Amino acid sequence: MKIGLTYDLRDVYLAEGYSEEETAEFDRADTIEALERELRALGHQTERIGRLKNLVERLASGDCWDLVFNIAEGLWGSGREAQVPALLDAYGIPYTFSDPLSLCVTLDKSVAKRLVRDAGLPTAPFVVVNDLKDLPQVRLPWPIFAKPVREGTGKGISGASKLGCSDELVKVCAKLFATFRQPVLLETFLPGREFTVGLLGSGRTTRALGVMEVVLRENADAEVYSYANKEWCEERVLYRLVDDDEAREAARVAVESWKVLGCQDAGRIDLRSDDAGRPQFLEANPLAGLHPHHSDLPILCALQGISYRELIGAILDEARQRVAGNVALCESRKSHESLGKGAARERWA
Ligand SMILES: Nc1ncnc2c1ncn2[C@@H]1O[C@H](COP(=O)(O)OP(=O)(O)O)[C@@H](O)[C@H]1O
Ligand SMILES: [Mg+2]
Repeated sequence: MKIGLTYDLRDVYLAEGYSEEETAEFDRADTIEALERELRALGHQTERIGRLKNLVERLASGDCWDLVFNIAEGLWGSGREAQVPALLDAYGIPYTFSDPLSLCVTLDKSVAKRLVRDAGLPTAPFVVVNDLKDLPQVRLPWPIFAKPVREGTGKGISGASKLGCSDELVKVCAKLFATFRQPVLLETFLPGREFTVGLLGSGRTTRALGVMEVVLRENADAEVYSYANKEWCEERVLYRLVDDDEAREAARVAVESWKVLGCQDAGRIDLRSDDAGRPQFLEANPLAGLHPHHSDLPILCALQGISYRELIGAILDEARQRVAGNVALCESRKSHESLGKGAARERWA
């Protein structure tokens, strides 16, 4: 297959004057090189596309790919992760990972939590505040945890995110509003174990690749898997596969949440347990980091004996099966042209 790669390269944004933190979710050059290497080793041709603006230009000039391997996070707005997939949908070009709807509802952690809670799955009580005037109405028990509602990679999260009194609440929220210019999610603080669950599949085929516990070493920011702990994870964090009752419950909640949120192909769900040891859904990562040694999903796979190449191959297989199913459905409805070029079935057979 001819596979295009869409991504936001961190160095490009740093050169344009964006800060380290603003670009934290974007990919390093070695991640793109690693993806390219594995896709080629799996027998495919690859073409770098880059970010949304590059994709717009390439589509306008008539370029096409059998599949786009999409890890673009987007820069701004409540649909930033959905922008590339929405454009590819408009051109009938298949892509890996989730569709625009799932990427929007999971980007906003409060919307994801509402959907998960509505399905009867456990997630901590929460409120969303839009500005400082909302704070006097907050009725959550202390301590409270504060985070930007639609960031990732620990952006805006540090030891100061755990709030013990209203002075701290006002101070931390004011800083989050000023820095991230978006609502703040306030949740009851979860003091228990932290898990991240690797997931493969979509809908009924969803299965857990494994449950990894995130254990913070003594030199780490205490109690939270913060931006700094993630950035220096090699020195500060111990990752271990776990398979006890609590971990299995985390896997169950993760698999069910993945289905409820409509996520596709592969990714991770993060959870943390409450004071009674019950794992609670924190957030979904349908565009999980794919740095071979620094990102949680490849780390989890390595601990599980799944090589990076096998992980990338499994993601492609999931996308291939999912898209083949969609093509068959479209053909049976005689709306085949909308998938472009009439050769969709051959490409995906
Ligand atoms: N309600 C909470 N209670 C305790 N810790 C939390 C809570 N919410 C988030 N955290 C901590 O902050 C980290 C990052 O939060 P998360 O929602 O996963 O955001 P990100 O998208 O930045 O990974 C978590 O891994 C966890 O350590
Ligand atoms: Mg997380």
